[in-house]
Amino acid sequence: PTAATTLTLPAAADLHVHLRQGDLMRMVVPHIRRGGVVRVLVMPNLKPAIASTEQALAYKRELEQIDASVDYWMTLYLGPEITPDEIRKAAAAGIKGVKSYPRGVTTNSESGIESYTAYYPVFKAMEETNMVLNLHGEVPSNPKDDICVMNAEVHFLKHLEQLHRDFPKLRIVLEHVTTGAAVRKVLELGDTVAATVTVHHLSLIVDDWAGKNHNYCKPVAKYPSDRRALWDAILSGSPKFFLGSDSAPHPRSTKECASGCAGVYTQPHVLPYLASVFEQYNALDKLQAFTSDNGNRFYQAKPSTDTVTLVREPLTVESELSYGDASAAQPAVVPFQAGETLPWRLA
Ligand code: NCD
Ligand code: DOR
Ligand code: ZN
Ligand code: ZN
Repeated sequence: PTAATTLTLPAAADLHVHLRQGDLMRMVVPHIRRGGVVRVLVMPNLKPAIASTEQALAYKRELEQIDASVDYWMTLYLGPEITPDEIRKAAAAGIKGVKSYPRGVTTNSESGIESYTAYYPVFKAMEETNMVLNLHGEVPSNPKDDICVMNAEVHFLKHLEQLHRDFPKLRIVLEHVTTGAAVRKVLELGDTVAATVTVHHLSLIVDDWAGKNHNYCKPVAKYPSDRRALWDAILSGSPKFFLGSDSAPHPRSTKECASGCAGVYTQPHVLPYLASVFEQYNALDKLQAFTSDNGNRFYQAKPSTDTVTLVREPLTVESELSYGDASAAQPAVVPFQAGETLPWRLA
């Protein structure tokens, strides 16, 4: 049979995005629909972090002023300000999740958590109010115990297992999984545990970010066998794995420097990137489950009735995307696969 040249899908749910603030936010938010996405789970690692229902709702209003056609699912940043009362308030206000960042692991995580047991009353309230716990699943590097970015996720899995054992009804998403070990653990645990997979981790391995700052993100991309495990999970048709792009823009100047920020920017072309790589794995028939069915089901939401159409025509990714004032020092973000040509684009 001849390969399909168009593909119509429900507009995607991208259940892990960084939309930022200020001028950068004003560039990023219009890129959501441009990438074929209509629904996003918005990460709370702003400055200051989103730690209350009021802050989350104020941020949501700002986002809606830029594009009111997107469903913004909001999250809170787990920290000392989050109490069981705040959880009940947040749940009543429609906030979907609470993101936990281990301290110091990634962008703006200086106020992240060090111990989970301190938050057990919060998790109990989340379980009771049906909120989702979104885990950044890495432990901090610790050379003395041979822990570094390559095994930080594997060492985190014992925490996932313990949390699930202690709160079996709490829905937990292990965000941006990057290892075969994490995939196997998520498959082994109950139905209340699922995982997001990013766009870039379906393409990258270590060699692609070592010395190439624009592909550097946390968690870092791992071994070829780990990438294969992510694909095997998707190809298996398991409903536990769904899109969370972790699109994380940083200004070019903070990526192209001696100690670059972690984050890959994929938001403007989420579906074209995915269609292009799913095609390489003969998996275009699995794209809708990954970008819409599985995530919406886990979050107990109906998929969008909006559709998007992908066409098999070339799309050249921008070399950079400028934002803010059109001055001589105008900042820009370099998107994933900048300057490369993808075989699929949105109609
Ligand atoms: C910053 C911003 O808002 O511009 N975002 C943030 O603090 N979360 C820029 C950045 O850190 O990339
Ligand atoms: O690479 C990353 N960038 N990983 C994260 O967890 C955070 C994100 C960011 O906000 O830049
Ligand atoms: Zn994260
Ligand atoms: Zn993230």
